[in-house]
Amino acid sequence: MVVNNILVVGAGAMGSQIGMVAALAGYQVTVQDISAAMLEQAEAQLRSRMDASVAKGRMSREDADAALGRLAFSEDLAAAAATTDLAIEAATEKLEIKRGIFTALDAAAPPHAILATNSSTFGSSKVADATGRPGQVCNMHFFNPALVMKCVEVVRHESTSQDTIDTVLAVAKRMGKAPVLIEKELPGFVANRLMGAIRDEALRLYADGIASFQDIDTAAKTALGHPMGPFELMDLVGLDVSHQIRQATFAETGDPADLPHPALSALVERGDYGRKSGKGWYSYDGVQK
Ligand SMILES: NC(=O)c1ccc[n+]([C@@H]2O[C@H](COP(=O)([O-])OP(=O)(O)OC[C@H]3O[C@@H](n4cnc5c(N)ncnc54)[C@H](O)[C@@H]3O)[C@@H](O)[C@H]2O)c1
Repeated sequence: MVVNNILVVGAGAMGSQIGMVAALAGYQVTVQDISAAMLEQAEAQLRSRMDASVAKGRMSREDADAALGRLAFSEDLAAAAATTDLAIEAATEKLEIKRGIFTALDAAAPPHAILATNSSTFGSSKVADATGRPGQVCNMHFFNPALVMKCVEVVRHESTSQDTIDTVLAVAKRMGKAPVLIEKELPGFVANRLMGAIRDEALRLYADGIASFQDIDTAAKTALGHPMGPFELMDLVGLDVSHQIRQATFAETGDPADLPHPALSALVERGDYGRKSGKGWYSYDGVQK
């Protein structure tokens, strides 16, 4: 299937950048949101990012303007969906919101259109049955910041068609991404599971008194070549976010091994959320490290 028009639903941290990535790849793109303020903010941020790329010599003014010219912003989902070949939903992480969006997309989009979700936690089977086209539904999971991160996890659910998978993989490649095909839905998909395994082992080593968290970060960076250590990364992501993800995973699996580590819970209970609160594993003293 040939994709020309892409609709991104949600103009937040992820949706705005996914829209820009698609426009830079040559697609005609509409970013839709129910909030006019979010649409305005997204447009302003993307314009200033493109200006910065031009100023740094990473892109010509003509290419930046051409990409911005292919990018529209709208509050009207039905109108934006009417001409779309691929919709990528990147709205608030609440299942009822997402199911409502998928039902609306199914009603308004042409019969051939593929409907994908960028959700980090919901497999697309959770929204596919809100549509009359479950075979054309899958996860297309970008990483933050979407303009920079190369990985896109394409996750099939039990009845996702091979055409849908082939098309979404091809779109991700045209966007300059490195798509990873995940054959079965599972919590955390692949990349976040790998990250979680490293984080869990780091927490165990620290809690068992094997090494300080600073030295564990040093080992991850200098021996494994990771750009950040697991404790630095937890501080960046937000300890509250890591904590919530573990609780959500536990709620899904019921496996006590998925509960948040007590060392993490202790920091979250103290209100130490990482960089955003000025203190997590490390102290930031108002200075971003
Ligand atoms: N933030 C990340 O690091 C990250 C990474 C990968 C995937 N994700 C996933 O991307 C999705 C969005 O995350 P985010 O961080 O961009 O959230 P965000 O809160 O920054 O943005 C969500 C946007 O959705 C909009 N929205 C809410 N209801 C809507 C509706 N009915 N129709 C249209 N728009 C609606 C909101 O107005 C908001 O602008 C989530 O599913 C999340 O799991 C997030």
